[in-house]
Amino acid sequence: MKLSVIGCGYLGAVHAAAMAELGHDVIGIDVDQSRIDALSAGKAPFFEPGLPDILASATASGRLRFSTRMEDAAGSRVHFIAVGTPQKRGSYAADLTSVNGALDALIPFLNAGDLVVGKSTVPVGTATNLAAAVAASGTGASLAWNPEFLREGFAVKDTISPDRLVYGLPPAEAEAVSAKALLDAVYRSALDAGTPLIVTDYATSELVKASANAFLATKISFINAMAEIAEATGADVTQLADAIGLDPRIGRRFLGAGVGFGGGCLPKDIRAFTARAEELGRGESVAFLKEVDAINLRRRQRVVDLTVESLGGSVNGKKVAVLGLAFKPFSDDIRDSPALDVAVQLRGLGATVVATDPHAIENSRRIHPQLEYAVEPADALANADAVVLVTEWDQFRHMDPVWAGNLVRDRIVIDGRNCLDAPAWRAAGWTYRGLGKP
Ligand code: UDX
Repeated sequence: MKLSVIGCGYLGAVHAAAMAELGHDVIGIDVDQSRIDALSAGKAPFFEPGLPDILASATASGRLRFSTRMEDAAGSRVHFIAVGTPQKRGSYAADLTSVNGALDALIPFLNAGDLVVGKSTVPVGTATNLAAAVAASGTGASLAWNPEFLREGFAVKDTISPDRLVYGLPPAEAEAVSAKALLDAVYRSALDAGTPLIVTDYATSELVKASANAFLATKISFINAMAEIAEATGADVTQLADAIGLDPRIGRRFLGAGVGFGGGCLPKDIRAFTARAEELGRGESVAFLKEVDAINLRRRQRVVDLTVESLGGSVNGKKVAVLGLAFKPFSDDIRDSPALDVAVQLRGLGATVVATDPHAIENSRRIHPQLEYAVEPADALANADAVVLVTEWDQFRHMDPVWAGNLVRDRIVIDGRNCLDAPAWRAAGWTYRGLGKP
């Protein structure tokens, strides 16, 4: 099937490549010329495991092309809108400028029977407004909503074999039938493999995405709240998580206590959800998400405070090695990264921060040139007065504490992800501090 993907950021670039990998004929469109140049050359503009391989094979096969010209979307049967919906400046609400702009630019190139498919994360009610714009265009096209649940680091796998597919279909019966048939053809391989499919209305499909991310954020903040209680009582939050996680109704995943969640989705999505609920006069229903956000931000502060405390009350003039900059491993994304936030705060308190990360140094340097960066962890560790681990990359989790101990000035480690083998680090002479741990 001929598909267009409007917006070639994280979501769009992966979606375009994955759809071509599945055999569709795909044109990816973005306003950013340098991004389009990189993608056309088969190069991923960000670090995502598996993406370079499928980009290279799909561009070489001719099934995947990229362009900055919206007119190249003409002739595709299904048009995915995958542009960003960042947090609005000075507000919690989502900024829909790109979504509205993408649709306005696409409308002149739609043909009768085409389907516009929203994938961007939007406030509930957006699809209805966009469908009205499509209807008013008189093109004979229609609109469906099809939220995306991909995780960075696993984006290719999550796109090709998703946990579930959700279709938010138009209210008119005939339009819904043809939209479903087109989406089924797009996702034939996943459906044949038994992927569960939920067919619903616009509002439910939009809310599935908002509530899934709200739930995940709440689960993380729940365990981080327990970490705060553990800190006041001498309990161990990791053992607590193991024990409650064995209840299948609770489950152990997303009970990793530490410096908290970040990234381009969870933080802004819970804020946008709060803002939308307030617009709907239902602010109370999700008021707890403000607490989820507050708990999350307190954990970054806790890591900073622990570092200050471990260094005798001040980090001024001390060298702190920060292990990790990306918001999570297997990503070079630093959007709302707790790791980068901690590094910047420590620098603000007068520490000489030398940060290292296998993939996120370049992105970090662009925004925070005041920090020092070391490609080799050994250079970050050299003569450090304290070590702060804030992204649980394998190379940090499995770092040899004896080797690291011979590089630093003082053996103080703050494990912001509770991922180190504390007894091994203590045995190697380190003062080990975790979060929510005795
Ligand atoms: C998330 C959702 O998982 C995905 O379904 C949605 O489409 C987009 O948002 P992503 O942002 O890629 O995906 O990251 P995710 O793996 O969910 O992690 C989010 C943050 O939570 C990271 O900063 C991670 O370090 C943190 N986290 C995760 C914890 O602090 N503890 C945990 O137990 C799990």
